[in-house]
Amino acid sequence: MSITIDEMASFCKRKGIVFPSSEIYGGLTGFFDYGPLGSEIKNNLKQAWWKYFVHDREDVVGIDGTIISHPKTWEASGHVANFDDFFTECVKCHERYRADHLIEDVLHMDVAGLKTAQLNKLIKEHHVKCQKCKSELAEVKPFNMMFTTFIGPVPSKEATAYLRPETAQNMFLDFKSVTETGRVKLPFGIAQMGKAFRNEIAPRNFLFRCREFEQMEIEYFIHPDKANECPFLDEVRRHKLLVYSAELQHHKKEALEMTMQECIDKKIISTAWHAYWLAKAHQWFVSLGADAKKFRIRQHVADEKSHYALDTWDLEYEFPFGWKELQGMANRTDYDLKQHMKHSGKDLSLFDEESKQKIIPHVVAEPSQGVDRAFLVFLYNAYQDDKQRGNVVLKLHPTLAPFKVAVFPLLSNKEELTSKAREVFTSLKTAFTTFYDRTGSVGRRYARMDEIGTPYCVTVDFDSLDKQDVTVRDRDSTKQMRVPINELKETLRRLLAGELAFSKAGTPFEPKKEVP
Ligand code: GAP
Repeated sequence: MSITIDEMASFCKRKGIVFPSSEIYGGLTGFFDYGPLGSEIKNNLKQAWWKYFVHDREDVVGIDGTIISHPKTWEASGHVANFDDFFTECVKCHERYRADHLIEDVLHMDVAGLKTAQLNKLIKEHHVKCQKCKSELAEVKPFNMMFTTFIGPVPSKEATAYLRPETAQNMFLDFKSVTETGRVKLPFGIAQMGKAFRNEIAPRNFLFRCREFEQMEIEYFIHPDKANECPFLDEVRRHKLLVYSAELQHHKKEALEMTMQECIDKKIISTAWHAYWLAKAHQWFVSLGADAKKFRIRQHVADEKSHYALDTWDLEYEFPFGWKELQGMANRTDYDLKQHMKHSGKDLSLFDEESKQKIIPHVVAEPSQGVDRAFLVFLYNAYQDDKQRGNVVLKLHPTLAPFKVAVFPLLSNKEELTSKAREVFTSLKTAFTTFYDRTGSVGRRYARMDEIGTPYCVTVDFDSLDKQDVTVRDRDSTKQMRVPINELKETLRRLLAGELAFSKAGTPFEPKKEVP
């Protein structure tokens, strides 16, 4: 049984992973701060994403754009006109609700994509009332979720600007500069990570739905006629995913496990590129230790798609509060480039050497991942309440763990042990994030490290002084091994890289995979 989202929030607070923002003033709904451990995990996660999707590839380049861009950006993108959620409030106690979520919670009905009139009709027909005081609800109204601000000292209509609700638009705004300077050639992607802001009507489920959050996004551009010419498809043809197509949803059937090749052959996913990027998104999570079976891809039904999307699939994760969107992946076609061409008057087309014609590239897939939702997935995946040990064990992948190694002297009041342990700690800390702990019993120190996900603990004892070796303890199995101090750094490096593992028998180490 996994813990509830509220229990996860209090675990994170207790351990210095995530705190409610500005808590000394009572907090601010939908805003969170990452604490000393959380900021390490989050940075590790972002670096792992950037490595996998930018550095390890030849076809994706990165940018780092501004949070506030020219206000016309959001007129062109359609966010000023369309970026609405629908809210209602209690006529008596004025409790506010996001209308679709309220109906889903009360009537257990899927209302994705319904607009004002349909939501009002459902509330009236089914007599949905305020969940707090059971009074009537006011008419449902659309509400634009962008946060506004003013540029310069005088607030006015002309000075109005927006905090970006998605990082995606920077990629379109910088498209011309990137293609002129970035040595990119179709097909290629532009990636960005950064803050996004949405004035959510009812933020909920801790980090899952906040008002300030981070995104890691790629806009992947292709030649408009080459949506099925994906040179990397072999990497994912046999990759299996639980697939929940619009048709299966329409017929109220269960999701089915399929390979990407089957999805393409049966035209369930309409382009090879889209199938490729969906599989890559899943593979990234699995590469960092997430349970492959807790994911599925779900196609947006017709009414649900954003104003810019031809086809959208979400990568979903089975949270304790249900299957929820983890990553949105729309086929945005040439919608954005064309809109920005129209509104800016600038030419954003490219010259195609093959056809000797100008073309407007299509965004065949926009992998758009929320950092905070990915963070939650990895926490849920890692969290285990180990009854035998009597403590929580956070089985984070070593890449994500805030500390890779902890070093302890067996006893804290023996100078010869503490000075040897400090020596060992100093020799490790420039190679890995290492924690030195001398307080409490060794058992208590192991438990503390288990709870924050430290993969390996090193203990310096009296034998270490004579034999120049230490005990290395494995977080996941609790097995222990003696390792000579002069081999310690390399052994830990290999353990953390997955090249070595603790053997079933406890001794000696065994190779985990082929070392190139
Ligand atoms: N550029 C496309 C786009 O922004 P989206 O589906 O609206 O698409 C992408 O958002 C991802 O951003 C979501 O799948 C989710 O991971 C994250 N996200 C969106 N709204 C969020 C919120 N209020 N709190 C936390 N993460 C959010």
